[in-house]
Amino acid sequence: MKLFKILLLFIALSTFGCAEKENPSFTKEELVLIPQPKSLNLNQGSFEVTNSTKIIIAQDSLASVSSILNDLFKRAAGFELETSIDAHAENNIQLKINSEIAKEAYELKVTSENVILEANSKLGFVYGMETIRQLLPKEIESGSKVSDIEWYIPNVEITDAPQYSYRGNMLDVSRHFFGKEYIKKHIDRLAFLKLNTFHFHLVDDQGWRIEIKKYPKLTEVGGFRVDQEDSHWNARTKNEPDAKATFGGFYTQEDIKEIVAYAQERGIRVIPEIEMPAHVMSAIASYPWLSCTGEPIAVPSGGVWPITDIYCAGKESTFEFLEDVLSEVMQLFPGEYIHVGGDEATKTNWKTCPDCQRRIKEEGLADEDELQSYFMKRIEKFLNKNDRTLIGWDEILEGGLPEEATVMSWRGFEGGWEASAAGHDVIMTPTSHLYFDYYQGSPDNEPVAFNAFTPLKRVYEFRPVLDSMSVKQKKHVLGGQANLWAEYVPTEAHSEYMLFPRLAALAEVVWSPENKLDWEDFSVRIRKMMERFEVMGINYAKSAYAVQPESDIDLETGEITIKLKSEFPNTEIRYALNGEELNAESNLYENEIKVDTDTQLKAAVFKNGKVMGAVLDKTFKFHKAVAKPVIYKYPYNQNYASSGETALVNVLKGSKYFKDGRWQGWINNPAIITIDLEKETSVSEVIVGSLEEQGTGIYFPQQLKVEVSKDGKNFKEVASLKRDYQTNPGAKIDNFKMGFELQENIRFVRVSVEPLAKTPNGGGAWLFLDEIQIK
Ligand code: ACM
Ligand code: ZN
Repeated sequence: MKLFKILLLFIALSTFGCAEKENPSFTKEELVLIPQPKSLNLNQGSFEVTNSTKIIIAQDSLASVSSILNDLFKRAAGFELETSIDAHAENNIQLKINSEIAKEAYELKVTSENVILEANSKLGFVYGMETIRQLLPKEIESGSKVSDIEWYIPNVEITDAPQYSYRGNMLDVSRHFFGKEYIKKHIDRLAFLKLNTFHFHLVDDQGWRIEIKKYPKLTEVGGFRVDQEDSHWNARTKNEPDAKATFGGFYTQEDIKEIVAYAQERGIRVIPEIEMPAHVMSAIASYPWLSCTGEPIAVPSGGVWPITDIYCAGKESTFEFLEDVLSEVMQLFPGEYIHVGGDEATKTNWKTCPDCQRRIKEEGLADEDELQSYFMKRIEKFLNKNDRTLIGWDEILEGGLPEEATVMSWRGFEGGWEASAAGHDVIMTPTSHLYFDYYQGSPDNEPVAFNAFTPLKRVYEFRPVLDSMSVKQKKHVLGGQANLWAEYVPTEAHSEYMLFPRLAALAEVVWSPENKLDWEDFSVRIRKMMERFEVMGINYAKSAYAVQPESDIDLETGEITIKLKSEFPNTEIRYALNGEELNAESNLYENEIKVDTDTQLKAAVFKNGKVMGAVLDKTFKFHKAVAKPVIYKYPYNQNYASSGETALVNVLKGSKYFKDGRWQGWINNPAIITIDLEKETSVSEVIVGSLEEQGTGIYFPQQLKVEVSKDGKNFKEVASLKRDYQTNPGAKIDNFKMGFELQENIRFVRVSVEPLAKTPNGGGAWLFLDEIQIK
């Protein structure tokens, strides 16, 4: 009897042990979902995907959805999940249609036995699959086979649906061209974040990127420009129409079809933008008869402002051309929306063009704004006839909106407010939150960008609707979109850098319910998500880890107070002083740091003993002129006054951001500065700090001179320096050192700094100085 009992127990145990293999449980902290789902319950245990797991689809039309997971498993796991319509009891991922569920919503239930994904549309299934993807170990994103890993999906119950129906991202492929493969990769990443719209900015002054069969010169001529990549975008010179243009590229119609089909499979609609009437110098370079003057122009290599080379709104041939172009475009892009730009047209040529003026008269238009309105309305009629909806930038409000137009509000939220009040649909894409060509951190640490800021937290603070909107207006706000203009984005890696992680912040604020939006919580998840970005091979920015110093000096006591923080909250900041090595054992920053002698400060955010993001390296140099009176022969410009009379002798130095409030600026005058040392002093060196950013019109000096005096009347020149102009594509700080034989009993030092006499583009040269050190 006894033996029998033991045997029974053994059988029971072994049965339990074998059939019920215990899959691991996960903690809430291990779930890294972006965007955050509407509701989420985490249960004990997990489901393991193996090479015998099947995907069971409710109908054949869902077969393409299974490729979202299978493309990943094929690469990272070395197997694919068999997809079939037959139901199996367990070990499967079931896609079930549930007619109770809203269009883009889905419900996901993962148990140790199976995964059940319910939805009522292909889109719902796509989003559910993307959630499963994020629940899998990050190694699933690997481009090559990963061994020693089990593919567990934590047991969860999720119900989810988007807040906004328009969740977009625009890539500008005109200012810099990005190949088809990158675009596809990017589309997959949009899907990963449950974004649903790719706005394809195919036309702009600096490049026409879509093949149009009827007008081959658009890409042959308009797709290429003279290579001036080694200059700052806004410092590039005007090209001659016959200059050799080699820099650029375009998509063939076959490429476009491939991109659109790829996007469709992942639930992404593609909206082409065919700009008009401005931002079309590439088209006019190809066919000069499109402009008012008909004069030949070249595709510009860089910034053009204001934009006066625009389509003629008077000649019928312009509209024939545009209808032909749009007809081919509509063949390639099956979606509802066609974006036709409408922004930033300076209409000076329309004022003097007989054709444009005749049109104004014949149509009874009040002015050139109404002529643009006529232009856009006429294009809208053509699009509507073809069952398409026109989208335009918010300038299309000026002079009267086309009847059915959807407005993309970029110059703030106001255009969106106004258009929604007039009953139009609106997409919010304000520069204040969603321009990803702006800096995401201090220019000291960042590659050159448009001179404004959209840090990660600012993106997360974006909300598409305004409190001041009526219920009716709010309904017209379809959602939001981040724009990556590519003037300063020359490579794919750089494009990824500007997009990630900011795109994840946008994705969450347009998908997740407002009561789920929490910056602190997001900032924890995004840091973990970066580990997945790493496996995905995304060159994401670590800018939110950078230490942001804030320093102040008390000029009476000479004491500097330094505060350190990072954009990510609750980080471990460590610092080292005066050549000490910065490492995981360095001083932990807790309270502000105070220094009153020459100090080098290094600091960084640490995580698990490793440096995250940029290392701050700042030097505070005291010198003989600190806090001494300064006399200016020519006053500094009031817009760049810095802290006034003490700015150049306060130890604190300017950064690479020209508007940081530390730089003192002059235009059209040299800076001639006399410093009164207030007592007899020996001097042997003067160092002048200067900033250059050629695209902003700020140039290093051409010549510097130092004179010394005992009485303030008779000066003796002791040093000078000359330098030649050099092209410089970014922002750069230089310290011009002038050493000389020791001069004793000196009371006054006069420093004369000559700006660059002639800039490459004409126009005056700004001179920016900060800190004149006397030693
Ligand atoms: C724009 O940024 N010009 C729409
Ligand atoms: Zn004209």
